[in-house]
Amino acid sequence: MLHSRLMLVVALGTLACSPQQTPASPEKPAATASATASAATSAPASAPSAPPPPSASVADGAATYARYCALCHGANAEGYVADNAPSLVTSTFLSTASDAFLRVGIERGRPGTAMGGFGRVVGGPLGPEEIDGIIAFLRSKNPTPQQTLPNFMAGGDVANGGQIYARECQSCHGTQTQRGSAVHLANPLFLATASDAFIRHAVVHGRPGTPMESFAPRLDGRATNDVVTYVRFLGANAPAISALQPPLPAVTAPPTQAPAIPEWPPIPTNPKGAQPKFTLRDGRFAPMAEVKKAMDAKQKIIIVDARPPSDWNSLHIPGSVSLPYYNLELIDRIPNDGTWVIAYCGCPHHASGEVVDALRRKGYKNTAVLDEGMFAWQKAGFPVVQAPGMPALAAPPIYKDDKPQPLPSAPKSGR
Ligand code: HEC
Ligand code: HEC
Repeated sequence: MLHSRLMLVVALGTLACSPQQTPASPEKPAATASATASAATSAPASAPSAPPPPSASVADGAATYARYCALCHGANAEGYVADNAPSLVTSTFLSTASDAFLRVGIERGRPGTAMGGFGRVVGGPLGPEEIDGIIAFLRSKNPTPQQTLPNFMAGGDVANGGQIYARECQSCHGTQTQRGSAVHLANPLFLATASDAFIRHAVVHGRPGTPMESFAPRLDGRATNDVVTYVRFLGANAPAISALQPPLPAVTAPPTQAPAIPEWPPIPTNPKGAQPKFTLRDGRFAPMAEVKKAMDAKQKIIIVDARPPSDWNSLHIPGSVSLPYYNLELIDRIPNDGTWVIAYCGCPHHASGEVVDALRRKGYKNTAVLDEGMFAWQKAGFPVVQAPGMPALAAPPIYKDDKPQPLPSAPKSGR
């Protein structure tokens, strides 16, 4: 049964890797890679000093990146500014992440995590050219040669891999149902786009400059294949991607215009209701329970969703309006009359914090960030609106465990 589930996941994974039963030696391509590397490094020798001016798309990509992504991944894309967003510019990542991997990641996001879908195909703001610009910008940050990874299927021992995972990986990467401090490897979109060779390469070589160390000294080839096989298995209970978001082939026919912001319901909610009272933590964060109570008591309130509209489309708090952190001009639609405005995101505080800061700069009196954010709200069983046809499981995977997992500690080398 483990096996058939595994095969299902592997079939899902064909997007990026064509599974092949031949246990190709994953170290083999290193030779090709270093050959390309030396070819690439010898080329600029003839034109030593001035690097070519960045192409238009790199400059455009930098601007798009700064507007939409720097919030979490940082100005230089080195990650860890918010929500443990990973680095996007380590050499091992950029050399093994194909443009397609990056494109789908940016377009679709990683459902159930703070990484929203930014592509127009899922209701986000970015078209294909803008996403390609971001990719060019990321590659310009660390022009490391790209490697062709082998068609490789780890085909190891899931049970042994599970033991290694629990011992070596779980403290950072969490479990199948609980995100840790690092990238959630059980995410269905991650697993659909990351091949076994990509995962293996990360385990063997690490992500230099981040807490992800090379496991080459600790795991031999066989143990590495076992743990990669287990990582594949992490997706076994995940809902099909088609159930989470529109099917991937739609990517090839994107709309040319960014979809409008989802229509706003009338605000405030309960215009005739009483003014709620919140005891803000640090003068900024409204406790979830108090916000829920205000909603139950039909008090007058405006709830703002600060995430990309694609996230609002799949899951939001009833009555909330979509006001993404990168479209702050929409604030002018909110009456500045002392009505309480509560902003939330999945981050859990970062994008909503941007909106609250902007409101406060404009003189709005009663504003707060929803403490703990959307996913904690959903986990608490508080009311949410889910897109029709979205299975309950499409919610963040982290909330399915019956026994709560201790949250792993923050990455070792802080940045
Ligand atoms: C609200 C915070 C946030 C914003 C804004 C954000 N990201 Fe992310 N991003 C994350 C997190 C968190 C992850 C890891 C998801 C997980 O838990 O698995 C991630 C993952 C990714 C990944 C996959 C990386 C990997 O190692 O597999 C890519 C690519 C990416 N983001 C690109 C972008 C780009 C480009 C933008 C801007 C258009 C952006 N992100 C905006 C938080 C964010
Ligand atoms: C000390 C914490 C830590 C441990 C332990 C750890 N990792 Fe990681 N891992 C990370 C972090 C952080 C990243 C993201 C690095 C970055 O910012 O590029 C990462 C990245 C990865 C990636 C790449 C994901 C992507 O989308 O690029 C894979 C695959 C991975 N780890 C697998 C493993 C496996 C398998 C183990 C156990 C053998 C393991 N890791 C142990 C912290 C850890």
